[in-house]
Amino acid sequence: MSSRIPTLREAFTYLAGRPLRWFPQLCTFIFVIWYFGPVIRGGQPEDLIHAALPPPIGHPHQPPLYRPPTASSDDWKLRAHQVREAFIHSYKGYREHAFPADELAPISGHNVTNFNGWQISMYDGLDTMWILGLTDYFDEAVQFIAGANYTTNPKQYVPFFETVIRQLGGLLSAYALSGELVLLQKADELGGMLLPAFNTSSGFPMYAISTRTNATRPGWAGNTLWAEALSNQLEYKYLAHLTGKPEYFEKAERCMELMYTANITDGLFPTRWDTRKGTPVNHQFSVGAFADSAHEYLLKQWLMTSRSETKIKDLYLKASKSIIEHLLYITPNREILYVTDAEMHEQFQQPHTGTTSASPPNITSFPSANFEHLSCFLPGLLALGAHTLDLSPSEKEIHSFAAEGLGYSCWLTYADTRSGLGPDVMSMETFQPNITEGLWLPRLEKWKEQGRRGRPPGLREPGPAVESFYILWRTTGNLAWRERGWSVFESIQKHAKTQLGYASVLDVDSSSEKIPVKDEMPSYFLAETLKYLYLLFTDEEIIPLDQFVFNTEAHPIPIFEWTEAEKMLYNIS
Ligand SMILES: *[C@@H]1O[C@H](CO)[C@@H](O)[C@H](O)[C@H]1NC(C)=O
Ligand SMILES: *[C@@H]1O[C@H](CO)[C@@H](O)[C@H](O)[C@H]1NC(C)=O
Ligand SMILES: *[C@@H]1O[C@H](CO)[C@@H](O)[C@H](O)[C@H]1NC(C)=O
Ligand SMILES: *[C@@H]1O[C@H](CO)[C@@H](O)[C@H](O)[C@H]1NC(C)=O
Ligand SMILES: *[C@@H]1O[C@H](CO)[C@@H](O)[C@H](O)[C@H]1NC(C)=O
Ligand SMILES: *[C@@H]1O[C@H](CO)[C@@H](O)[C@H](O)[C@H]1NC(C)=O
Repeated sequence: MSSRIPTLREAFTYLAGRPLRWFPQLCTFIFVIWYFGPVIRGGQPEDLIHAALPPPIGHPHQPPLYRPPTASSDDWKLRAHQVREAFIHSYKGYREHAFPADELAPISGHNVTNFNGWQISMYDGLDTMWILGLTDYFDEAVQFIAGANYTTNPKQYVPFFETVIRQLGGLLSAYALSGELVLLQKADELGGMLLPAFNTSSGFPMYAISTRTNATRPGWAGNTLWAEALSNQLEYKYLAHLTGKPEYFEKAERCMELMYTANITDGLFPTRWDTRKGTPVNHQFSVGAFADSAHEYLLKQWLMTSRSETKIKDLYLKASKSIIEHLLYITPNREILYVTDAEMHEQFQQPHTGTTSASPPNITSFPSANFEHLSCFLPGLLALGAHTLDLSPSEKEIHSFAAEGLGYSCWLTYADTRSGLGPDVMSMETFQPNITEGLWLPRLEKWKEQGRRGRPPGLREPGPAVESFYILWRTTGNLAWRERGWSVFESIQKHAKTQLGYASVLDVDSSSEKIPVKDEMPSYFLAETLKYLYLLFTDEEIIPLDQFVFNTEAHPIPIFEWTEAEKMLYNIS
């Protein structure tokens, strides 16, 4: 249905597409918004799928104009089943044509070793197999993994970040779900072998490591990306909890300590850090490339250890406040809310106050006005935060509005292309000549001051072209989001399915009958896309969100409490 909606060309200019990584972001935010949407928006009681959630907040909820036709429970079962079939189709293709390489090239049937040659598709798909009840594939994989040797070949280096979030995260999650002890043993083995990556004078991990010699290598950037520094804590802290080994906790926590003491203003954590000194080196503030999962790991770390490490929560609060203040903009004509990245100058000339007071007025922001699809995890994260943090009613409202407005914009970017799938980066229309007139927060404040007439800015109807989605959005009941998830799955089936698997879509806005696809099936398709879609369509709560957090590759990790003994051992205050 989505492919026939008129385009948003007047608002968006699509930049040329590199291989797209849009599936998971879309599925994450659809899943999280579906899960929390009714709570955030103050939906109908029957929409609340989770009895333990607190009462809805005071959102100016309007009664549904129209309830979209939704499928019955039986239909959803059937839809979940089709996602399961899609997984079987892709994994079978990988298993028969590419294993033991990393990934399948789903058109040519070639195999690809684009990571470590450690069967990344199998590791990434492991917990999904368990969730889908594919015991034959799961057991076979466990047996294979039991014999794995993570010693690299001479001269081979493995990327630390990718190996942690995919391979280590996959092992830990599959262990947590299945209780297969050998998976924990292998996680411990792999986690230990990767540990020398942290052997830098700051304590930030190096980009890549040889597990044969413990030698390390920097990445192309020459310094540490914020996302690299802060996307190993869920995995290593859970591993510390499972094994009782202090070094796992200490290495991961060292990166956090560098954040607590960083000389930055408010929550403006820049994208690049000095690997040797552990200090910021640039002024770019972003939620997209180089930063995305770090924001996630702040909130999720706090959640994973049962909200005990309040220092981390404070970092998330600061960072998210800065995002809302400095990175959220609306477009001039249609008032579409988007998140961008910005050069934040003079931030380092500010004395470090260490307080959460409003940011100093002399920070000058140079927004790029790019809206990256990688950033579409943000509405889900803000929704999760609004739901779990002890925010004041007014802050909670701001976070919820931002989540809702951005969720809608992300959805629009999918809905408004011919393929029904989203582009990687969009360059947004800006206010001219003064770009900061588009900042969202002052407009929201003004709307409040003026008596809250109509819908908040950035959450208004963007125009008749997308009315059906607007109505879908207005009615929000979780079923609307489920339907959106279903329409995404239909687009995937229609455009991406090949004889052997599923291919990446190259040009989402192509006008040709046949949407161009790329001969690749990234492992995250098995880890994230199909998992979130399956969870979205199953009535049964397989992975309750009050018991698990998802790492940035969608591997669920259980929420746990540090014992008194652990607190002493790891020096957790
Ligand atoms: C992977 O591809 C190479 C050629 O690129 C081929 O030699 C090898 O046999 C293939 N491996 C598998 C498991 O198909
Ligand atoms: C893994 O391979 C390395 C090098 O080939 C070897 O030295 C080591 O003993 C192997 N480890 C195990 C557990 O088999
Ligand atoms: C850490 O690096 C130093 C040199 O920078 C080296 O001497 C030391 O052995 C390394 N430690 C480990 C555990 O690899
Ligand atoms: C690599 O570091 C580990 C400690 O993490 C150590 O046990 C091992 O001996 C080191 N290997 C080499 C080749 O230095
Ligand atoms: C913080 O950074 C600013 C600007 O780079 C610098 O002037 C100041 O001395 C730094 N403060 C500390 C405590 O390092
Ligand atoms: C740009 O717009 C902002 C917000 O309306 C305003 O505070 C600022 O003074 C304007 N800057 C210039 C140079 O006009």
